[in-house]
Amino acid sequence: MSSEKNIQFKVQPGGRLNGRLRVPGDKSISHRAIMLGSLAEGVTHVSGFLEGEDALATLKAFRAMGVQIEGPDNGRVVIHGVGMHGLRAPESALDLGNSGTSIRLMAGLLAGQGFDVEMVGDASLSKRPMRRVTEPLALMGAHIDTAEGGMPPLHVRADSRLKGINYALPMASAQVKSCILLAGLYAEGETSVTEPAPTRDHTERMLQGFSYEVRRDAATARLTGGGSLQATDIDVPSDISSAAFFMVGATIAVDSDVTLEHVGVNPTRTGVIDILRLMGAQIDVSNQREVGGEPVADIRIRSSQLKGIHIPDALVPLAIDEFPALFIAAACAEGETVLTGAEELRVKESDRIQVMADGLLKMGIKAEPTPDGIVIQGGSMQGAEVDSHGDHRIAMSFAMAALRAQGIVIINDCANVNTSFPNFVTLASGAGLGIK
Ligand code: S3P
Repeated sequence: MSSEKNIQFKVQPGGRLNGRLRVPGDKSISHRAIMLGSLAEGVTHVSGFLEGEDALATLKAFRAMGVQIEGPDNGRVVIHGVGMHGLRAPESALDLGNSGTSIRLMAGLLAGQGFDVEMVGDASLSKRPMRRVTEPLALMGAHIDTAEGGMPPLHVRADSRLKGINYALPMASAQVKSCILLAGLYAEGETSVTEPAPTRDHTERMLQGFSYEVRRDAATARLTGGGSLQATDIDVPSDISSAAFFMVGATIAVDSDVTLEHVGVNPTRTGVIDILRLMGAQIDVSNQREVGGEPVADIRIRSSQLKGIHIPDALVPLAIDEFPALFIAAACAEGETVLTGAEELRVKESDRIQVMADGLLKMGIKAEPTPDGIVIQGGSMQGAEVDSHGDHRIAMSFAMAALRAQGIVIINDCANVNTSFPNFVTLASGAGLGIK
């Protein structure tokens, strides 16, 4: 990937956020649109596609496997599907950069192709756990080699022949669930996945949008292999995970009033709204509608005084990517915020518990990491120089913290903001954040 490592954000303290904004397209849905559009029969038109490095890594990977993909051009992508068995072996290893979603979902999808393929990633991805996908795939009959410790690169072998399994997920992970369901498309018989708690269901919804039957009852999703996908049009909503920075920013900054338009509000993603409301935030969700099988709404956020809470465990998987931003909200709240049941945060693009705690401490906030969460005492934030550890969501969260800091906030290693939110600086500064 192209990310330079030395990009630094300098954010002036104070200010307010105002205006109507549209944040970029949903990352999870953008990945899936490329994957399913490529395997479909016919031409899929996508609008609102996220032109960030992660989704582009998926797009380039499918091009490298022979799929003709036009764009992206202003969020528009046209995918000429090759059918379930039309992919070709790529000439070299697929580089998936920083993107866990790409490598984990593609591990399942490529296990069914009957060709050898290697997938590699950047330094962060190369340290992330892959056994959570290679173990269930091995039960299905896949042969996948990993580097030591079950980490990337992954080498998917041509001699993988898949049969369906009934799998109980050991952790709440939409990537693992999706990986197994995508492998299930190529497996003999039925594949089912049961999750310990609800996780994002974009794969199940989109498969149905491509006319593939997915049966869902309670915590289990099941499908039968051997079917085909029919091309469809996809309008990708704005990413609630990107909207979250502005929700937190507008809540903590004085005199702020922001409306975020056309945001995806799939109930498996709206934990951030529920948590902020429990903390006392004023959030109005309006104009709710359905776009291509996904609920979408406009979200208005106004400044509020927050109070610390014990975050209900049930909301953790529904807000899993939003905790860095929520920790900034907790730092501005009155009293103590306690998070438990969130050990998954330690294996994201960075160890988000430790990295956020380190940065908050530098800003003068008492933040105590625990094995599966954190305890944050709300207080007054000083200016500081913090390190994002190359994690896009950490960088954007500390940028928003400046709205309530006493001094300038400098954030190092911010290039990976381009993985999910390439126009963050322009949009945030247009709304009132003093960021350069
Ligand atoms: C994603 C699932 C989540 C999330 C990631 C995107 C997806 O990961 O953190 O950003 O698109 O399926 P896990 O499945 O590891 O929780």
